[in-house]
Amino acid sequence: MKTLIVNGTVVTANDELQADVLVDGERVVAIGLGLPRQADRVIDATGRYVMPGAVDVHTHMELPFGGTFASDDFATGTAAAAWGGTTTIVDFAVQSFGQSLHAGLEQWHKKAEGKAHIDYGFHMIVREINDSILQEMDQLVNEGVPSFKLFMAYPGVFMLDDGAIFKAMSRTADNGGLVMMHAENGGAIDVLVQRFLAEGKRDPINHGLTRPASMEGEATHRAIALAELAGVAVYIVHLSSKDALDAVRAARDQGAPAFAETCPQYLYLSLDDLARPGFEGAKYVCSPPLRPQRHQEDLWTGLVQNDLQLVATDHCPFDYKDQKVLGKGDFSKIPNGLPGVEDRFSLIFHGGVNSGRISPSRFVELVATAPAKMFGLYPRKGTIAPGSDADLVIFNPNVERTLSARTHHMRVDYSCYEGMTLRGLPEVVMQRGNILVEKGVFLGRKGSGQFLKRSRFHVPAGEPARAEAAV
Ligand code: URP
Ligand code: ZN
Ligand code: ZN
Repeated sequence: MKTLIVNGTVVTANDELQADVLVDGERVVAIGLGLPRQADRVIDATGRYVMPGAVDVHTHMELPFGGTFASDDFATGTAAAAWGGTTTIVDFAVQSFGQSLHAGLEQWHKKAEGKAHIDYGFHMIVREINDSILQEMDQLVNEGVPSFKLFMAYPGVFMLDDGAIFKAMSRTADNGGLVMMHAENGGAIDVLVQRFLAEGKRDPINHGLTRPASMEGEATHRAIALAELAGVAVYIVHLSSKDALDAVRAARDQGAPAFAETCPQYLYLSLDDLARPGFEGAKYVCSPPLRPQRHQEDLWTGLVQNDLQLVATDHCPFDYKDQKVLGKGDFSKIPNGLPGVEDRFSLIFHGGVNSGRISPSRFVELVATAPAKMFGLYPRKGTIAPGSDADLVIFNPNVERTLSARTHHMRVDYSCYEGMTLRGLPEVVMQRGNILVEKGVFLGRKGSGQFLKRSRFHVPAGEPARAEAAV
Protein backbone atom coordinates (compact mmCIF):
# COMPACT_ATOMS: atom_id res chain seq x y z
CA MET A 1 0.00 0.00 0.00
CA LYS A 2 1.41 3.38 -1.05
CA THR A 3 0.20 6.62 0.50
CA LEU A 4 1.14 10.05 -0.84
CA ILE A 5 0.64 13.10 1.38
CA VAL A 6 0.63 16.21 -0.79
CA ASN A 7 0.67 20.00 -0.31
CA GLY A 8 1.62 19.95 3.37
CA THR A 9 4.39 21.71 5.27
CA VAL A 10 6.76 18.99 6.42
CA VAL A 11 8.33 19.78 9.78
CA THR A 12 11.30 18.00 11.28
CA ALA A 13 13.62 19.12 14.08
CA ASN A 14 15.89 20.61 11.41
CA ASP A 15 13.60 21.79 8.62
CA GLU A 16 10.27 23.25 7.68
CA LEU A 17 9.56 22.81 3.97
CA GLN A 18 6.78 22.50 1.42
CA ALA A 19 7.03 18.88 0.30
CA ASP A 20 5.12 15.71 -0.43
CA VAL A 21 5.73 12.57 1.61
CA LEU A 22 5.53 9.12 0.04
CA VAL A 23 4.86 6.14 2.29
CA ASP A 24 5.32 2.60 1.01
CA GLY A 25 4.14 -0.09 3.38
CA GLU A 26 5.36 0.78 6.87
CA ARG A 27 8.09 3.24 5.90
CA VAL A 28 8.60 6.71 4.55
CA VAL A 29 10.35 6.27 1.20
CA ALA A 30 10.57 9.78 -0.27
CA ILE A 31 10.16 13.44 0.60
CA GLY A 32 10.15 16.03 -2.15
CA LEU A 33 8.18 18.54 -4.14
CA GLY A 34 5.92 17.21 -6.90
CA LEU A 35 6.40 13.49 -6.26
CA PRO A 36 4.56 11.45 -8.96
CA ARG A 37 0.95 10.90 -7.95
CA GLN A 38 1.21 7.16 -8.21
CA ALA A 39 -0.16 5.87 -4.93
CA ASP A 40 -3.08 3.85 -3.65
CA ARG A 41 -4.14 6.74 -1.46
CA VAL A 42 -3.49 10.48 -1.75
CA ILE A 43 -4.05 12.71 1.27
CA ASP A 44 -4.27 16.46 0.73
CA ALA A 45 -2.54 18.30 3.59
CA THR A 46 -3.06 21.84 2.28
CA GLY A 47 -2.76 24.32 5.16
CA ARG A 48 -1.55 21.56 7.50
CA TYR A 49 1.75 20.57 9.04
CA VAL A 50 3.06 17.06 8.40
CA MET A 51 4.99 16.10 11.52
CA PRO A 52 6.53 12.95 12.96
CA GLY A 53 4.27 10.98 15.29
CA ALA A 54 5.06 12.13 18.80
CA VAL A 55 7.02 10.01 21.26
CA ASP A 56 5.95 10.11 24.92
CA VAL A 57 8.73 8.59 27.05
CA HIS A 58 6.91 8.81 30.38
CA THR A 59 3.62 6.96 30.82
CA HIS A 60 2.17 4.69 33.51
CA MET A 61 -0.54 2.44 32.14
CA GLU A 62 -2.18 0.49 35.00
CA LEU A 63 0.48 1.60 37.48
CA PRO A 64 -0.26 0.22 40.96
CA PHE A 65 -0.24 3.16 43.37
CA GLY A 66 -1.71 3.73 46.82
CA GLY A 67 -3.91 0.63 46.76
CA THR A 68 -5.32 1.20 43.29
CA PHE A 69 -4.22 1.15 39.63
CA ALA A 70 -3.89 3.93 37.08
CA SER A 71 -7.19 3.87 35.21
CA ASP A 72 -5.90 3.62 31.62
CA ASP A 73 -4.66 0.26 30.45
CA PHE A 74 -2.60 -0.27 27.31
CA ALA A 75 -5.74 -0.45 25.16
CA THR A 76 -7.47 2.72 26.34
CA GLY A 77 -4.31 4.73 27.04
CA THR A 78 -2.67 4.07 23.68
CA ALA A 79 -5.88 4.82 21.80
CA ALA A 80 -6.06 8.16 23.64
CA ALA A 81 -2.40 8.77 22.82
CA ALA A 82 -3.11 8.20 19.12
CA TRP A 83 -6.06 10.58 19.18
CA GLY A 84 -3.65 13.18 20.49
CA GLY A 85 -0.87 12.62 17.91
CA THR A 86 1.38 10.32 19.95
CA THR A 87 2.37 7.14 18.14
CA THR A 88 5.01 5.75 20.50
CA ILE A 89 5.11 5.50 24.27
CA VAL A 90 7.76 4.26 26.66
CA ASP A 91 6.00 2.99 29.78
CA PHE A 92 7.47 2.09 33.17
CA ALA A 93 7.53 -1.59 34.14
CA VAL A 94 7.79 -2.03 37.91
CA GLN A 95 9.95 -4.40 39.92
CA SER A 96 8.08 -5.90 42.89
CA PHE A 97 9.98 -6.16 46.18
CA GLY A 98 11.97 -9.37 46.41
CA GLN A 99 11.38 -10.17 42.75
CA SER A 100 13.60 -10.01 39.73
CA LEU A 101 13.53 -7.19 37.22
CA HIS A 102 12.59 -9.75 34.58
CA ALA A 103 9.50 -10.81 36.55
CA GLY A 104 8.30 -7.19 36.58
CA LEU A 105 9.11 -6.74 32.92
CA GLU A 106 7.23 -9.90 32.02
CA GLN A 107 4.13 -8.53 33.77
CA TRP A 108 4.33 -5.37 31.67
CA HIS A 109 4.72 -7.34 28.45
CA LYS A 110 1.53 -9.20 29.38
CA LYS A 111 -0.29 -5.91 30.06
CA ALA A 112 0.68 -4.51 26.66
CA GLU A 113 0.60 -7.48 24.28
CA GLY A 114 -2.61 -7.77 22.31
CA LYS A 115 -3.81 -4.47 23.70
CA ALA A 116 -1.58 -1.60 22.57
CA HIS A 117 -2.81 0.42 19.59
CA ILE A 118 0.59 2.09 19.12
CA ASP A 119 4.22 1.00 19.40
CA TYR A 120 5.71 0.87 22.87
CA GLY A 121 8.90 0.31 24.78
CA PHE A 122 9.64 -0.08 28.47
CA HIS A 123 11.81 1.50 31.13
CA MET A 124 12.31 -0.44 34.36
CA ILE A 125 11.52 0.95 37.82
CA VAL A 126 14.14 -0.52 40.15
CA ARG A 127 13.13 -0.72 43.83
CA GLU A 128 16.12 -2.48 45.34
CA ILE A 129 19.75 -2.90 44.41
CA ASN A 130 21.83 -6.03 45.00
CA ASP A 131 24.33 -8.04 42.95
CA SER A 132 21.72 -10.04 41.11
CA ILE A 133 19.68 -6.91 40.26
CA LEU A 134 22.82 -5.21 38.96
CA GLN A 135 23.47 -8.21 36.71
CA GLU A 136 19.91 -8.09 35.48
CA MET A 137 20.36 -4.43 34.63
CA ASP A 138 23.17 -5.47 32.26
CA GLN A 139 20.86 -8.05 30.69
CA LEU A 140 17.99 -5.60 30.26
CA VAL A 141 20.24 -3.15 28.44
CA ASN A 142 20.98 -5.96 25.95
CA GLU A 143 17.30 -6.87 25.71
CA GLY A 144 16.21 -3.40 24.58
CA VAL A 145 15.24 -1.99 27.98
CA PRO A 146 18.23 0.26 28.67
CA SER A 147 16.74 2.82 31.09
CA PHE A 148 16.07 2.52 34.81
CA LYS A 149 13.93 4.80 36.93
CA LEU A 150 15.14 5.25 40.50
CA PHE A 151 13.38 7.19 43.24
CA MET A 152 14.76 9.58 45.84
CA ALA A 153 11.19 9.92 47.17
CA TYR A 154 8.47 7.67 48.65
CA PRO A 155 10.42 6.08 51.58
CA GLY A 156 9.42 2.45 52.16
CA VAL A 157 7.78 2.20 48.75
CA PHE A 158 10.15 3.23 45.97
CA MET A 159 12.96 5.22 47.59
CA LEU A 160 16.60 4.07 47.30
CA ASP A 161 19.40 5.47 49.44
CA ASP A 162 22.37 7.31 47.95
CA GLY A 163 24.61 4.23 48.14
CA ALA A 164 22.17 2.13 46.12
CA ILE A 165 21.72 4.96 43.63
CA PHE A 166 25.48 5.33 43.25
CA LYS A 167 25.88 1.58 42.68
CA ALA A 168 23.19 1.60 39.99
CA MET A 169 24.69 4.65 38.30
CA SER A 170 28.16 3.12 38.35
CA ARG A 171 26.72 0.05 36.66
CA THR A 172 25.19 2.14 33.85
CA ALA A 173 28.64 3.67 33.31
CA ASP A 174 29.71 0.18 32.20
CA ASN A 175 26.60 -1.27 30.60
CA GLY A 176 25.29 1.62 28.50
CA GLY A 177 22.09 2.13 30.44
CA LEU A 178 20.60 5.44 31.60
CA VAL A 179 19.35 6.25 35.10
CA MET A 180 16.16 8.31 35.16
CA MET A 181 15.69 10.00 38.50
CA HIS A 182 12.59 10.97 40.46
CA ALA A 183 14.36 13.75 42.33
CA GLU A 184 12.62 14.82 45.53
CA ASN A 185 14.08 14.53 49.04
CA GLY A 186 11.78 11.80 50.33
CA GLY A 187 13.11 11.80 53.90
CA ALA A 188 12.47 15.48 54.60
CA ILE A 189 9.14 15.39 52.76
CA ASP A 190 7.94 12.46 54.84
CA VAL A 191 8.69 14.34 58.07
CA LEU A 192 6.70 17.31 56.80
CA VAL A 193 3.80 15.08 55.76
CA GLN A 194 3.58 13.48 59.23
CA ARG A 195 3.84 16.90 60.88
CA PHE A 196 1.05 18.38 58.74
CA LEU A 197 -1.24 15.41 59.35
CA ALA A 198 -0.63 15.64 63.11
CA GLU A 199 -1.57 19.32 62.93
CA GLY A 200 -4.84 18.40 61.23
CA LYS A 201 -3.85 19.82 57.84
CA ARG A 202 -5.49 17.21 55.65
CA ASP A 203 -6.76 18.90 52.46
CA PRO A 204 -5.19 18.33 49.00
CA ILE A 205 -3.31 21.65 49.06
CA ASN A 206 -1.07 20.21 51.79
CA HIS A 207 0.30 17.72 49.27
CA GLY A 208 1.94 20.69 47.55
CA LEU A 209 2.99 22.45 50.74
CA THR A 210 4.81 19.40 52.11
CA ARG A 211 6.87 18.86 48.96
CA PRO A 212 8.69 22.19 48.56
CA ALA A 213 10.57 23.09 45.39
CA SER A 214 13.76 23.45 47.43
CA MET A 215 13.62 19.69 48.13
CA GLU A 216 13.34 18.99 44.40
CA GLY A 217 16.29 21.32 43.78
CA GLU A 218 18.34 19.60 46.49
CA ALA A 219 17.61 16.10 45.17
CA THR A 220 18.27 17.13 41.56
CA HIS A 221 21.63 18.56 42.56
CA ARG A 222 22.44 15.39 44.54
CA ALA A 223 21.42 13.11 41.66
CA ILE A 224 23.66 15.00 39.27
CA ALA A 225 26.57 14.99 41.77
CA LEU A 226 26.23 11.22 42.21
CA ALA A 227 26.15 10.74 38.44
CA GLU A 228 29.28 12.87 38.07
CA LEU A 229 30.99 10.75 40.73
CA ALA A 230 30.05 7.65 38.74
CA GLY A 231 31.08 9.25 35.46
CA VAL A 232 27.70 8.85 33.76
CA ALA A 233 24.82 10.81 32.36
CA VAL A 234 21.63 11.22 34.34
CA TYR A 235 18.11 12.09 33.24
CA ILE A 236 15.74 13.91 35.61
CA VAL A 237 12.08 12.99 35.10
CA HIS A 238 9.05 15.28 35.53
CA LEU A 239 11.10 18.37 36.47
CA SER A 240 8.65 20.87 37.94
CA SER A 241 10.49 23.83 39.45
CA LYS A 242 12.99 26.62 38.90
CA ASP A 243 15.02 25.14 41.76
CA ALA A 244 15.55 21.85 39.92
CA LEU A 245 16.04 23.60 36.59
CA ASP A 246 18.81 25.74 38.09
CA ALA A 247 20.62 22.58 39.21
CA VAL A 248 20.37 21.03 35.74
CA ARG A 249 21.45 24.24 34.01
CA ALA A 250 24.45 24.73 36.32
CA ALA A 251 25.63 21.17 35.62
CA ARG A 252 25.16 21.50 31.86
CA ASP A 253 27.03 24.81 31.85
CA GLN A 254 29.97 22.89 33.36
CA GLY A 255 29.75 20.34 30.53
CA ALA A 256 28.09 17.57 32.57
CA PRO A 257 25.69 15.23 30.73
CA ALA A 258 22.62 16.15 32.77
CA PHE A 259 19.28 15.91 30.98
CA ALA A 260 15.70 16.59 31.98
CA GLU A 261 12.11 16.52 30.85
CA THR A 262 9.21 18.62 32.02
CA CYS A 263 5.51 17.91 31.55
CA PRO A 264 2.55 20.01 30.35
CA GLN A 265 1.02 20.13 33.84
CA TYR A 266 4.01 22.08 35.16
CA LEU A 267 3.74 24.54 32.28
CA TYR A 268 -0.02 25.14 32.58
CA LEU A 269 -1.20 24.29 36.10
CA SER A 270 -0.16 25.55 39.50
CA LEU A 271 -0.50 25.31 43.27
CA ASP A 272 -3.72 27.34 42.87
CA ASP A 273 -5.29 24.26 41.28
CA LEU A 274 -4.32 22.15 44.29
CA ALA A 275 -6.06 24.79 46.41
CA ARG A 276 -9.40 24.47 44.60
CA PRO A 277 -12.32 24.37 47.02
CA GLY A 278 -13.60 21.21 48.68
CA PHE A 279 -11.80 18.10 47.56
CA GLU A 280 -11.37 19.25 43.94
CA GLY A 281 -7.66 19.89 44.46
CA ALA A 282 -7.23 16.09 44.54
CA LYS A 283 -7.60 16.09 40.75
CA TYR A 284 -4.25 17.90 40.63
CA VAL A 285 -2.24 15.75 43.04
CA CYS A 286 0.95 14.48 41.44
CA SER A 287 4.60 14.34 42.50
CA PRO A 288 6.54 16.52 42.26
CA PRO A 289 3.54 18.74 42.97
CA LEU A 290 2.25 21.64 40.92
CA ARG A 291 4.24 24.75 41.81
CA PRO A 292 3.40 28.41 42.34
CA GLN A 293 2.67 29.97 38.95
CA ARG A 294 5.95 31.90 38.81
CA HIS A 295 7.84 28.67 37.99
CA GLN A 296 6.00 28.19 34.69
CA GLU A 297 7.79 30.83 32.65
CA ASP A 298 11.15 29.56 33.89
CA LEU A 299 10.27 26.10 32.58
CA TRP A 300 9.23 27.50 29.19
CA THR A 301 12.57 29.33 29.08
CA GLY A 302 14.30 26.05 29.93
CA LEU A 303 12.64 24.48 26.88
CA VAL A 304 13.57 27.41 24.66
CA GLN A 305 17.20 27.36 25.79
CA ASN A 306 17.51 23.55 25.79
CA ASP A 307 18.27 23.26 29.48
CA LEU A 308 15.20 21.04 29.29
CA GLN A 309 15.49 18.71 26.33
CA LEU A 310 12.00 17.36 25.98
CA VAL A 311 8.40 17.22 27.14
CA ALA A 312 6.79 13.98 28.34
CA THR A 313 3.47 13.54 30.13
CA ASP A 314 3.90 11.32 33.21
CA HIS A 315 0.42 10.12 32.23
CA CYS A 316 -0.92 8.40 35.34
CA PRO A 317 -4.69 8.91 35.56
CA PHE A 318 -6.94 8.12 38.52
CA ASP A 319 -10.69 8.68 38.50
CA TYR A 320 -11.76 11.55 40.70
CA LYS A 321 -14.92 9.86 41.98
CA ASP A 322 -13.61 6.35 42.63
CA GLN A 323 -9.87 6.71 43.14
CA LYS A 324 -8.72 10.18 44.15
CA VAL A 325 -11.40 9.88 46.84
CA LEU A 326 -9.19 7.34 48.66
CA GLY A 327 -7.40 10.37 50.09
CA LYS A 328 -10.42 12.28 51.36
CA GLY A 329 -9.47 13.48 54.83
CA ASP A 330 -5.79 12.51 54.34
CA PHE A 331 -3.95 14.16 51.44
CA SER A 332 -1.11 11.62 51.73
CA LYS A 333 -3.45 8.85 50.56
CA ILE A 334 -4.56 10.57 47.34
CA PRO A 335 -3.19 8.49 44.43
CA ASN A 336 -0.42 10.54 42.78
CA GLY A 337 -0.75 11.22 39.10
CA LEU A 338 -2.55 13.14 36.36
CA PRO A 339 -3.99 12.26 32.96
CA GLY A 340 -2.27 13.83 29.96
CA VAL A 341 -1.16 11.43 27.22
CA GLU A 342 -3.81 12.75 24.81
CA ASP A 343 -3.21 16.45 25.38
CA ARG A 344 0.57 16.94 25.23
CA PHE A 345 0.91 17.50 21.48
CA SER A 346 -1.77 20.19 21.31
CA LEU A 347 -0.88 21.83 24.62
CA ILE A 348 2.79 22.22 23.73
CA PHE A 349 2.00 23.40 20.21
CA HIS A 350 -0.44 25.95 21.62
CA GLY A 351 1.69 27.23 24.48
CA GLY A 352 4.91 26.90 22.48
CA VAL A 353 4.28 27.71 18.82
CA ASN A 354 1.00 29.65 18.92
CA SER A 355 2.34 31.81 21.72
CA GLY A 356 5.53 32.57 19.75
CA ARG A 357 7.91 30.97 22.25
CA ILE A 358 9.26 28.26 19.92
CA SER A 359 9.33 27.37 16.23
CA PRO A 360 7.45 24.41 14.77
CA SER A 361 10.83 22.65 14.40
CA ARG A 362 11.67 23.09 18.07
CA PHE A 363 8.20 21.79 18.87
CA VAL A 364 8.88 18.63 16.85
CA GLU A 365 12.22 18.28 18.59
CA LEU A 366 10.63 18.53 22.05
CA VAL A 367 7.78 16.05 21.52
CA ALA A 368 9.26 13.60 19.02
CA THR A 369 12.91 13.85 17.96
CA ALA A 370 14.67 14.48 21.28
CA PRO A 371 12.69 11.75 23.09
CA ALA A 372 13.49 9.28 20.30
CA LYS A 373 17.19 10.17 20.40
CA MET A 374 17.46 10.13 24.20
CA PHE A 375 15.80 6.73 24.47
CA GLY A 376 17.34 4.76 21.60
CA LEU A 377 14.52 4.94 19.07
CA TYR A 378 15.98 7.35 16.52
CA PRO A 379 15.87 7.45 13.49
CA ARG A 380 13.22 4.73 13.31
CA LYS A 381 10.97 7.01 15.37
CA GLY A 382 10.91 10.76 15.95
CA THR A 383 11.56 12.08 12.46
CA ILE A 384 10.36 12.03 8.86
CA ALA A 385 13.09 10.64 6.65
CA PRO A 386 13.47 7.90 4.03
CA GLY A 387 13.65 4.63 5.96
CA SER A 388 11.93 5.92 9.09
CA ASP A 389 8.67 4.36 10.25
CA ALA A 390 5.73 6.14 8.65
CA ASP A 391 4.45 7.45 11.98
CA LEU A 392 2.96 10.76 10.91
CA VAL A 393 0.63 13.45 12.15
CA ILE A 394 -1.21 15.81 9.84
CA PHE A 395 -1.82 18.73 12.15
CA ASN A 396 -4.26 21.53 11.45
CA PRO A 397 -3.00 24.58 13.37
CA ASN A 398 -6.17 26.57 12.76
CA VAL A 399 -8.85 24.46 14.44
CA GLU A 400 -10.03 26.02 17.67
CA ARG A 401 -11.29 23.55 20.23
CA THR A 402 -12.06 23.16 23.90
CA LEU A 403 -10.50 20.45 26.05
CA SER A 404 -12.98 18.48 28.14
CA ALA A 405 -13.53 15.12 29.81
CA ARG A 406 -16.71 14.90 27.72
CA THR A 407 -14.69 14.67 24.51
CA HIS A 408 -11.34 13.21 25.49
CA HIS A 409 -10.55 9.52 25.07
CA MET A 410 -8.51 8.84 28.21
CA ARG A 411 -10.33 6.51 30.63
CA VAL A 412 -10.67 9.01 33.41
CA ASP A 413 -13.62 11.08 34.61
CA TYR A 414 -12.04 14.53 34.52
CA SER A 415 -9.71 16.73 32.51
CA CYS A 416 -7.09 18.90 34.18
CA TYR A 417 -7.71 21.39 31.37
CA GLU A 418 -11.54 21.35 31.43
CA GLY A 419 -12.88 24.27 29.40
CA MET A 420 -9.51 25.43 28.12
CA THR A 421 -9.61 26.64 24.50
CA LEU A 422 -6.62 26.08 22.24
CA ARG A 423 -5.79 26.11 18.53
CA GLY A 424 -4.58 22.98 16.76
CA LEU A 425 -5.82 19.45 16.05
CA PRO A 426 -4.04 16.25 14.99
CA GLU A 427 -6.45 15.48 12.12
CA VAL A 428 -4.76 12.41 10.66
CA VAL A 429 -2.54 10.12 12.73
CA MET A 430 -0.67 7.29 11.08
CA GLN A 431 1.50 4.51 12.47
CA ARG A 432 3.76 2.50 10.19
CA GLY A 433 1.59 3.52 7.23
CA ASN A 434 -1.73 2.58 8.86
CA ILE A 435 -4.20 5.33 9.63
CA LEU A 436 -5.18 5.35 13.30
CA VAL A 437 -7.26 8.52 13.34
CA GLU A 438 -8.87 10.37 10.44
CA LYS A 439 -11.68 12.93 10.31
CA GLY A 440 -12.63 12.30 13.92
CA VAL A 441 -12.88 8.52 13.47
CA PHE A 442 -10.67 5.98 15.21
CA LEU A 443 -9.41 3.35 12.76
CA GLY A 444 -6.68 1.77 14.91
CA ARG A 445 -6.64 -1.90 15.82
CA LYS A 446 -6.17 -3.16 19.36
CA GLY A 447 -2.98 -5.20 19.59
CA SER A 448 -1.34 -3.72 16.48
CA GLY A 449 1.23 -1.84 18.58
CA GLN A 450 4.65 -3.50 18.57
CA PHE A 451 7.21 -3.80 21.36
CA LEU A 452 10.27 -1.70 20.52
CA LYS A 453 13.70 -2.90 21.55
CA ARG A 454 15.65 0.27 22.19
CA SER A 455 19.37 0.91 21.69
CA ARG A 456 21.69 1.58 24.61
CA PHE A 457 22.14 5.19 25.71
CA HIS A 458 24.42 7.59 23.83
CA VAL A 459 24.72 11.27 24.62
CA PRO A 460 22.82 12.87 21.72
CA ALA A 461 25.00 14.90 19.32
CA GLY A 462 25.50 18.47 20.46
CA GLU A 463 24.72 17.76 24.13
CA PRO A 464 27.23 18.06 27.01
CA ALA A 465 29.19 14.83 27.20
CA ARG A 466 31.90 15.08 29.88
CA ALA A 467 31.73 11.80 31.77
CA GLU A 468 34.94 10.76 33.47
CA ALA A 469 34.32 9.39 36.95
CA ALA A 470 35.22 12.02 39.55
CA VAL A 471 37.10 9.45 41.65
O1 URP B 1 2.55 11.68 40.61
C1 URP B 1 3.14 10.98 39.82
N1 URP B 1 4.12 11.51 39.14
N2 URP B 1 2.74 9.70 39.61
C2 URP B 1 3.37 8.75 38.80
C3 URP B 1 4.58 8.12 39.45
C4 URP B 1 5.82 8.95 39.27
O2 URP B 1 6.46 9.28 40.24
O3 URP B 1 6.18 9.25 38.13
ZN1 ZN C 1 8.30 9.93 39.47
ZN1 ZN D 1 5.98 9.02 36.31
